[in-house]
Amino acid sequence: MPNDYWPPANVELATRRLLLRVPKDDELSAVAGVAARGVHKPGEQPFLTPWTNLPPQERALHVMQQHWSRRGAWHVDNWALELGVFLADRPVGMVVLKARNFSVLREVKTESWLGREFHRQGIGTESRTALLGLAFDQLGAVSAVTEVFQDNPGSQGVSRKLGYRHDGISRDVLAGRVATSDRLRLNVQDWVPTGPADLAVSGIDDARHFFGA
Ligand SMILES: CC(C)(COP(=O)(O)OP(=O)(O)OC[C@H]1O[C@@H](n2cnc3c(N)ncnc32)[C@H](O)[C@@H]1OP(=O)(O)O)[C@@H](O)C(=O)NCCC(=O)NCCS
Repeated sequence: MPNDYWPPANVELATRRLLLRVPKDDELSAVAGVAARGVHKPGEQPFLTPWTNLPPQERALHVMQQHWSRRGAWHVDNWALELGVFLADRPVGMVVLKARNFSVLREVKTESWLGREFHRQGIGTESRTALLGLAFDQLGAVSAVTEVFQDNPGSQGVSRKLGYRHDGISRDVLAGRVATSDRLRLNVQDWVPTGPADLAVSGIDDARHFFGA
């Protein structure tokens, strides 16, 4: 049943292989189970918040609580749309499109993770393309940014393939050491709009004003 009061819940993105949508609670638990099985090789740490290195049960709970927290905190000037990624009805991971003051800045930020067993099959690129299609083609974004540790070849690879340009670095403290991220930016001028065979967006018309678009 569509959600009349929080229309972002009705947004769905369909690509050639994937369906991206706000998960219902049972689907969220299945997505969290993917995280529990592992998001990367032991010893890696792709996020500043080290949630992927928590024990499996806590990792899954983090995914769910983060999702509920972002849904609960939604505001037109500070929102984060978290979508479960499904491949043939099977959950494989999660992506996030988020923005602050979108109505003025028209800039979005993306985040993503996939279960380790689903890496390197083009799913990261296909799901990021879907998020960018939503941002540029449907919401009128002018730029998309992401921050990626310099030693994260998967995430760097997705951004490289989609034409992001280097936009400086960020330095943070991770486990008492400096962790350097590349700031990457894709401007709408460098975006090749997706065709209907690559991306079908539904549920966005009634939700647009929730994004400040
Ligand atoms: C980042 C992530 C979502 C990428 O998704 P993915 O589906 O594995 O990426 P793709 O298969 O679309 O690959 C994109 C490009 O990067 C390359 N790539 C992906 N993983 C790589 C790796 N471990 N080493 C080297 N290259 C890699 C691919 O070969 C591809 O380039 P190509 O087509 O020119 O060969 C996934 O690796 C992941 O979930 N990692 C753990 C969490 C994470 O790092 N999140 C991002 C934090 S910033």
